[in-house]
Amino acid sequence: MVQLTLPKNSRITEGKVWPKPDSASALREFRIYRWDPEAGGNPRMDTFYVDTEDCGPMVLDALLWIKNKVDATLTLRRSCREGICGSCAMNIDGMNTLACTKGYDEVKGAVKIYPLPHMPVVKDLVPDLTGFYAQHAFIEPWLHTVSPTPQKEWLQSRADREKLDGLYECILCACCTTSCPSYWWNGDKYLGPAALLQAYRWLIDSRDEATGERLNDLDDPFRLYRCHTIMNCAQTCPKGLNPAKAIAEIKKMMVERRL
Ligand code: SF4
Ligand code: SF4
Ligand code: FES
Repeated sequence: MVQLTLPKNSRITEGKVWPKPDSASALREFRIYRWDPEAGGNPRMDTFYVDTEDCGPMVLDALLWIKNKVDATLTLRRSCREGICGSCAMNIDGMNTLACTKGYDEVKGAVKIYPLPHMPVVKDLVPDLTGFYAQHAFIEPWLHTVSPTPQKEWLQSRADREKLDGLYECILCACCTTSCPSYWWNGDKYLGPAALLQAYRWLIDSRDEATGERLNDLDDPFRLYRCHTIMNCAQTCPKGLNPAKAIAEIKKMMVERRL
């Protein structure tokens, strides 16, 4: 019989139930993943009660309310608070999304919040995205040219510019990559949907002159071909993008160049 051993500190335990705020008229329960590297041990789920009469409508508002009024050590990333920077990505009610654009009214029952799945955790809701950013750097997300630099700018027709729609809007939040089962098992070798969507964004940019080299870099059994079109990525993207379609287009370019 196969005996499976859980990795160290992977079992989530019941945590602290923090006191309800005094004289609150409308309470909402939040259950939040906590892990402190300095304390060590297993992660735990803490329960907090938020006074929604005193708090904005988004999950990020509630997290900051908790941080400001209940437990200042609650750790999370955020910056723009309007769906642009991608830093508040986390798993809310079983779905990877942005805390600043997710209303807690959209969730039934207690609002359960975890860090993005299958990434090392730095602390509480902060995942370690070092590998994710390295994969983005690997696809060299900038214009490659060999032609002499034009005096003014690299021009592009309106039609060619429109080919970038549905790609340039990516905010690199990592919701898609961390929802992808192929990435969970091969995240060290498979580039994942976010990096591949970016790769396609440069492959179809009419001004880029390194299409062959870019395809060569992706032509590998793991980097590109670990996508099995499971589509979690497209379902979870908070910007409504479709990385799976971009990956399918890259595979098509690979086939076409062999013909
Ligand atoms: S379609 Fe591909 S990239 Fe998207 S979740 Fe599935 S395997 Fe991952
Ligand atoms: S494709 Fe969507 S989910 Fe993936 S990193 Fe970009 S914005 Fe986030
Ligand atoms: S805080 Fe910037 S996307 Fe949520």
